[in-house]
Amino acid sequence: MGRLDGKVAIVTGAGSQTEGIGNGRAAAILFAREGAKVLLVDRVAERAEETAHQLQAEGLQDTGAVFQADVTDAAQCRAMVEEAVGRWGKLDILQNNVGIGARAGTILDMDDAVWERMMRVNVTGMMLAAKAAIPAMKANGGAIVNISSIAAWLPRGLTAYATSKGAVEALTRGLAADHARDRIRVNCIEPGPVFTPMVQVAGMTDELREARRRASPLGLEGTAWDIAYASLYLASGEARYVTGVVLPVDGGVLLTSR
Ligand SMILES: NC(=O)c1ccc[n+]([C@@H]2O[C@H](COP(=O)([O-])OP(=O)(O)OC[C@H]3O[C@@H](n4cnc5c(N)ncnc54)[C@H](O)[C@@H]3O)[C@@H](O)[C@H]2O)c1
Repeated sequence: MGRLDGKVAIVTGAGSQTEGIGNGRAAAILFAREGAKVLLVDRVAERAEETAHQLQAEGLQDTGAVFQADVTDAAQCRAMVEEAVGRWGKLDILQNNVGIGARAGTILDMDDAVWERMMRVNVTGMMLAAKAAIPAMKANGGAIVNISSIAAWLPRGLTAYATSKGAVEALTRGLAADHARDRIRVNCIEPGPVFTPMVQVAGMTDELREARRRASPLGLEGTAWDIAYASLYLASGEARYVTGVVLPVDGGVLLTSR
């Protein structure tokens, strides 16, 4: 028995920036391993196709389908939900994973367009995906998992990113309160400094990587699978009594860094 047997899920940002395993890819693979049908949504189709190949390699080719969409576009969000419902008859889970980072610096160093883009992708994108998904979930209830970041608490040099992630957490509580009566649970995960293609592409050095590991009270380096396992719990019926929470998955970094 899979923990998501019979469930239909959408994972946004289901590809990764490189062939490694990012948060969206790990969640998509884990949900499929646990029995869900998963719509692999990405702005860049080839990235989601790579995730589909990884499902194929595990013999899970019937569980995933690629759908190209940009979550900053309301019509594309509605189309992705229509695709999931058209293919598999319903929608149970939305993994709102899409998020972008920016170069470190204060707002004085930052072009206003970078700020606008950050809010559009990281906040409005999650709202639009939820807005499209909720009507389809109302029939049977559902679960939405939004991906934030511990940067919401540790904002130095990352004000735009941190502000967008703080908004994701407020969005989570708002949606949870407004849609509890629809039996739609909405929760949020705050990943810590996990090692993924997103940070590799941003130029992580071996030294910094080791410093991040040591900053964790557990002395561990987090991976996308840590985020995916927490997502699996919140997306599954095991969390039927849990809504509106923000769960740090950070090896304890927030305990000692705040
Ligand atoms: N990796 C980390 O260390 C870390 C830490 C904290 C939080 N996070 C959060 O995790 C989430 C992403 O993690 P990931 O590892 O999957 O990242 P990733 O960048 O490897 O993959 C994200 C995917 O999203 C896609 N995408 C980007 N913009 C899109 C859009 N507008 N519409 C549709 N798809 C789009 C990209 O093409 C990419 O394939 C983000 O919300 C990020 O803020 C990551």
